[in-house]
Formats: sequence, structure tokens, C-alpha cells
Amino acid sequence: MTAPVLEQGATALSASGLRIGYGGKTVVDDISLTIDKREIVCLLGGSGCGKSTLLRGLAGLSPAQSGNVSFLGEPLLEPHPRAALVFQQPSLLPWLNVEGNVGFGLDFARQPAIARDARKQRVVEAIEAVGLAARAHAYPAQLSGGQAQRVALARALARQPELLFADEPFSALDAITRAEMQTLLVDLVHRWHTAVLLVTHDIDEAILVADRILLMAVQPGQPGKIVREWKVDLPRPRHEYAEGVAGLRLDIIKALREGA
Ligand SMILES: Nc1ncnc2c1ncn2[C@@H]1O[C@H](COP(=O)(O)OP(=O)(O)O)[C@@H](O)[C@H]1O
Ligand SMILES: [Mg+2]
Repeated sequence: MTAPVLEQGATALSASGLRIGYGGKTVVDDISLTIDKREIVCLLGGSGCGKSTLLRGLAGLSPAQSGNVSFLGEPLLEPHPRAALVFQQPSLLPWLNVEGNVGFGLDFARQPAIARDARKQRVVEAIEAVGLAARAHAYPAQLSGGQAQRVALARALARQPELLFADEPFSALDAITRAEMQTLLVDLVHRWHTAVLLVTHDIDEAILVADRILLMAVQPGQPGKIVREWKVDLPRPRHEYAEGVAGLRLDIIKALREGA
């Protein structure tokens, strides 16, 4: 693996005064946030509050109506090769095996040119990291939902991103597989030195995974906004700190009920 680009504590992404919408409609407004290098930030909120819209804006996939996003110290106007995305659907190419799917993103024109051997090495490392070395030659149709999402995660990691954008990546999985994937994600991004913006509507997922939680909410007829923030300094694994987890959970539910 290559050395990480940023120093510890440096900012990976920052946004200020961000407003994003579609056509004349504003969906999220007044968004200012930072994500530090190696930090796991969860964007938590109910369905329709604008989480995916915000994630797309922060990733350079949707233009901002106003405000700006900066990534690795530069203005971000389009998707960046050092950022990767994972969605709810793994979106694997059915005619490529696991290895082919994981290597696929490395062929994109915007990716830096890397030597063939280094590319192969990255793919193998990423597949091992998600625990699929034994399935490297399997095709998507032969994989379970959880395995397919592991491939999507490996595909993202193989790009050695500074920041991983993940939009409800585990929402389609059963509860047991989801819990495994949450643990895997934290383990992987710690080992890979990757920051994460994880979008979720699942309070428990946010508490188990996040270093920091940003709560989004929307009032009728208004754009979605970030209304509260919690730094989660409970040690990991969090399920061993039931009292702290329960306390934070109640605090979040209370904030949701009060609309902030
Ligand atoms: N491509 C689009 N065009 C127009 N409106 C959209 C589009 N995508 C989302 N919206 C609207 O933006 C609002 C927020 O959607 P979204 O960001 O998907 O919320 P969330 O991810 O929190 O469920 C919703 O009212 C939705 O209908
Ligand atoms: Mg969404």
C-alpha cells in the first residue's frame, strides 16, 4: 500500500454554506461540515430529509446551488479519484468475476495510471481484506447479498481512497449480515486509513460505527439541514458499552422528537 497523502488530523473534506437541489427546488441548505482524515462521520436522518442529495453534492456528483466543497485542500467540482462510493446496491458487473469487479474501477480514465502488477496487488489485497480470497473467481450470481456488498467495498478500497462515501450500504442486508458488515467496515477503514461519510437512517448503525454523528432533519416545506452533532467517544467494540450506547440512543431519539 502507498503511504497516505494527508497527515493525521488533517481535513479530508470541508463544505460551507452548501445548498443543493434539483431544478428550482432546494433539497438541503445551509450545510457546513468537515470530515477529518481517518474520521468516520455518520449522516443520520429519516427517509427523504436529503441525505443522498447531500452525499452526492459532497462527492461532486451533483452541482451545488451555492456554497462550496473542498477535498484534500482543493475545490471539488467533480468526482475525485481519491474518493470512492458505495451504495445500497452493489452494482456488480455480472459478466466479471470478483477479481474483475474489484479491479474494474482502477481502469477508469480518471484513476492515476498504475503498473499492471501494482494494480493486481491492490485487487488481491482488497479482496483478502473483505474476506473473499476464496471466492475471487466467483461470479456475482454465485454470491450472497452480503458477499456482493463485500465486493463493492473491496472495489471502493482498491482505489485507496482518502474518503469513502457510503450511502446506506447495508440497508438491504439482513440484520446479522448487517452487523458483520458494520464491524468489517470499521476494521477496514482503520486499517486502510480511510475517512468515511456513512449515510444511514439506522440510529444503532450510526452509534456502533461513527466517530461523529450529524443528525439531519427536515421541516415541512423547508430544505433539510444538519440540526445536531454528537462526538461519539465510546470505546470499540461499542456493543460492550451498553450503557453509553443506550444513553446516546435516547439522546438522539429525543433530538429527533424535538425536531433538533
Ligand atoms: N433526482 C431528483 N430530482 C428531483 N428531486 C429529487 C431527486 N432526488 C431526490 N429528490 C427529492 O429530494 C428529497 C430528498 O431526497 P433524498 O436526498 O433521496 O433523501 P434521503 O436520502 O434522505 O432519503 C426528496 O423530496 C426527493 O423527492
Ligand atoms: Mg437516500
